Amino acid sequence: MTSPKPSAALPGQPYFAYRDGELYAENVRLADLAREHGTPLFVYSKAAMLGALAAYQRGFAGRKAQICYAMKANSSLGVLQVFAQAGCGFDIVSGGELERVLAAGGDAARVIFSGVGKTRAEMRQALDAGIGCFNVESEAELEVLNEVALAAGKPARVSIRVNPNVDPKTHPYISTGLKGNKFGVAHERALGAYQRAAALAGLQVVGIDCHIGSQITEATPYLDAMDRVLDLVEAIEAAGIPIQHLDFGGGLGIDYNGETPPPADVLWAQLLARLDARGFGQRRLMIEPGRSLVGNAGVCLSEVLYLKPGEEKNFCIIDAAMNDLPRPAMYQAFQQIVPLSRRDAGAPAPASWDVVGPVCESGDWIGRDRALALQPGDLLAVLSAGAYCMSMASNYNTRGRAAEVLVDGDQAALIRRRESAADQMRGEILLS
Ligand code: LLP
Repeated sequence: MTSPKPSAALPGQPYFAYRDGELYAENVRLADLAREHGTPLFVYSKAAMLGALAAYQRGFAGRKAQICYAMKANSSLGVLQVFAQAGCGFDIVSGGELERVLAAGGDAARVIFSGVGKTRAEMRQALDAGIGCFNVESEAELEVLNEVALAAGKPARVSIRVNPNVDPKTHPYISTGLKGNKFGVAHERALGAYQRAAALAGLQVVGIDCHIGSQITEATPYLDAMDRVLDLVEAIEAAGIPIQHLDFGGGLGIDYNGETPPPADVLWAQLLARLDARGFGQRRLMIEPGRSLVGNAGVCLSEVLYLKPGEEKNFCIIDAAMNDLPRPAMYQAFQQIVPLSRRDAGAPAPASWDVVGPVCESGDWIGRDRALALQPGDLLAVLSAGAYCMSMASNYNTRGRAAEVLVDGDQAALIRRRESAADQMRGEILLS
């Protein structure tokens, strides 16, 4: 017999909770979605996304601020629609992302274009669409953008991404604001780059930006970077070049496994106090959050295929793999794994399992040494899977990418069909 348990929200993911021993997204039972759509299946909560956005909006109340969702975190059209309808702009890094924004009904004027390797074709595409700003990452890019803008007869609005040389204290692969990183223009060279930009007829200087890394869990690196950027703004403006907007990038972390990043409104209360103290509180502000808007708004559902107990390790093989959930393999990242049903009174006692996928790589693991009571056929949820999972998914081993569902209250909408082998072979040409 099962005893009804009170609703218990998952840590960090308040819109996902157990009711009566069954895991729900808002008011939809996840096991029902797994049965209807199959697994692996990504499920997102719209309320979780809007809740995360609301924390930023509270933080910026009474200020001139534009939130540009860094869509590389999750670029599925249904997700973009949620943010476009909520008034967000978008931070893009490719022409493909721009096409997605437009397909989802986003406003090109609220698009900012980051990235160290924009091609001429992408620059032209973005100028023609009328994007709000190019975040230029090198002096060489300034020259090329100027040429493209002159040829198009459309001035390019630019901000220069400066590298403040601040340690965000995160994983080395996701630190971007240190001297040894490929991103941005070095602090010492920034004033010269602004003077050059101001002299180029095809460019119109509108802002300054920085982004120091991702999954940042404390305020100090942000405050340090802000001070460094404001020092530059003072120098650039003293040289006669006005800066209309200040863009502080993204990077705020989420709770994957007990991390305690400041909530967005708390972080921004501190940052705004610093801006006010330095006389920049009424400047137009921009930010580019990705993970903190979607990371804990999604889970990935998967079925246990086989249990393979061994002498050294017990392996639990599930139907999701590194092609669906690349973060453990790429960054040794931790994501919680929980059962969809806690009802099973007859479940075996927990053992320690390495949860792995079917891909032919030893690096294809999703979680190591997890205490779980498992049987083949059980359904599991890999948590915190809203950011940098589907957008980084691949077709390795000719595995089709998973389906995606967006939950809104008691409604669930399929926003991406499972990819078939035919979908994957569509662009290929057989030898004649
Ligand atoms: N702005 C720029 C210029 C960026 O490069 C990034 C992320 C963001 C904003 C958004 O950062 P967020 O708020 O999401 O931290 N795949 C890695 C994360 C790579 C982040 C790349 N840039 C991961 O799964 O941890």
